[in-house]
Amino acid sequence: MSLLAVSNLTKCYRRGDKTIAAVDDVSFHIDPGETLALAGPSGSGKSTIARLVLRLIEPDDGRIDFEGSDFLALSGAALRARRARLQMVFQDPLAAFNPRATVARVLDDPLRVHGIASRAERPRRIAALLERVGLIADLAPRAIHEISGGQRQRVAIARAIATKPSLIVLDEAASALDVSVRGEILKLLLDLQRQEKIAYLFISHDLGVIRSVAHRVILLDAGRIAENGDAQTVIDAPQSAIGKALVAAAPRLNRTLMRLASAGLD
Ligand SMILES: Nc1ncnc2c1ncn2[C@@H]1O[C@H](COP(=O)(O)OP(=O)(O)OP(=O)(O)O)[C@@H](O)[C@H]1O
Ligand SMILES: [Mg+2]
Repeated sequence: MSLLAVSNLTKCYRRGDKTIAAVDDVSFHIDPGETLALAGPSGSGKSTIARLVLRLIEPDDGRIDFEGSDFLALSGAALRARRARLQMVFQDPLAAFNPRATVARVLDDPLRVHGIASRAERPRRIAALLERVGLIADLAPRAIHEISGGQRQRVAIARAIATKPSLIVLDEAASALDVSVRGEILKLLLDLQRQEKIAYLFISHDLGVIRSVAHRVILLDAGRIAENGDAQTVIDAPQSAIGKALVAAAPRLNRTLMRLASAGLD
């Protein structure tokens, strides 16, 4: 059984007197421990799909099955419990967290809210989470705005794994970082996936990164699936018009691939 199965998902927005389908009859699945990438031009619906899967917004139509239950039908305590298994990391952790909050506070929240550890236990858990993402425990009392972008994204990942999720939605999670830090974050994500069998819905506009980290890729065009298949096959030989255009518009693809390969990611 799939970990996540999305069927006929549709979300429309009004623009002036017109209605546009940001996501138009989209279906896909993700298996346990698998990385499915979403790529496509700006405005093609990637983040809208992420928000729908996370139930930050509700679809106009369609169905989402997560860990064997009808995710859109859950509410109350059942929804809260299932939400712990479905986490997210966005592009900008400064926007996602209170920048004045301490690292410890950001990691304490999920442990407390989901009843994962007692108050007495939590400092130890926080130190273990920091270590898990390659940070030193001394970072705990620092404010989010004081640490580097790469450290912040590691804290965001630590927070995401605090509740032992089976799926993490990553929306351009490494895109804002400079190349070497990006490579380290991608490596951390791959390590976590290998060790904890976490699945990723990995949104990126960088086909070189997708080719290195994803098992499968979906190419979106104006809210619809244009192409869907093995990530390396699709990126090396796209069949759809949008796939060909995206690859042609990525002149740095080869350089990115070489850099990632030298970082041990390929
Ligand atoms: N809250 C909203 N209200 C109105 N229109 C929206 C809203 N959110 C998204 N849209 C529209 O839906 C479409 C898809 O947007 P979305 O943010 O999902 O694209 P994206 O693929 O993530 O783009 P990008 O690569 O720029 O992040 C766009 O046309 C966008 O303008
Ligand atoms: Mg987006």
